[in-house]
Amino acid sequence: MLSGWELPEKAFQWIEKNIPFGSNIVELGSGHGSVRLSENYNVWSVEHDETWLNISSNTYIHAEIVPFSVNGIEGLWYNVEKIKHSLPEKYDLLIIDGPPSTIGRNGVLTFQEIFTWNCHILVDDTHRAQEKFIADELSSQKSLNQIHFTEYFEQNDSNREFIILSPK
Ligand SMILES: C[S@@+](CC[C@H](N)C(=O)[O-])C[C@H]1O[C@@H](n2cnc3c(N)ncnc32)[C@H](O)[C@@H]1O
Repeated sequence: MLSGWELPEKAFQWIEKNIPFGSNIVELGSGHGSVRLSENYNVWSVEHDETWLNISSNTYIHAEIVPFSVNGIEGLWYNVEKIKHSLPEKYDLLIIDGPPSTIGRNGVLTFQEIFTWNCHILVDDTHRAQEKFIADELSSQKSLNQIHFTEYFEQNDSNREFIILSPK
């Protein structure tokens, strides 16, 4: 049974239907779901917590959480110095599923230059305001289409949402 930490089942179904097996995927935030991705894809998993490193054959990038202050925006996010030279040149999917919401994920908007954006982007947990904001900002800044998904999560009797952003 899914724990609620990994991507929703519908997200795996979308990925496995739309991203050709053997493609490169970059994932922010690793977990048990990364193991499933590793069965069919070359995955680069960015992770701050040593507990969730090296649990699959993925390439793990250990980037600790550090404070940032850029153009008046302050927050906590991965150490970009650890990420920026470690990603593959091309990837077909970027998954935004970390760091945990208690740390915040807005750094992906602040440090956009370390990623390439001509790929599909999966923003998980968009039932939460901060993650929905990230999806809306990326789609408006980069003119990306949005497809919204909802999955009922029996364990806490609520809906989980995620959004796929794709080039028009
Ligand atoms: C939403 S999880 C990422 C899940 C991952 N993308 C997956 O599909 O399994 C965000 C962060 O929570 C932590 N984490 C992952 N799995 C966890 C679990 N089962 N319990 C507690 N923390 C977890 C990791 O530090 C991870 O970066």
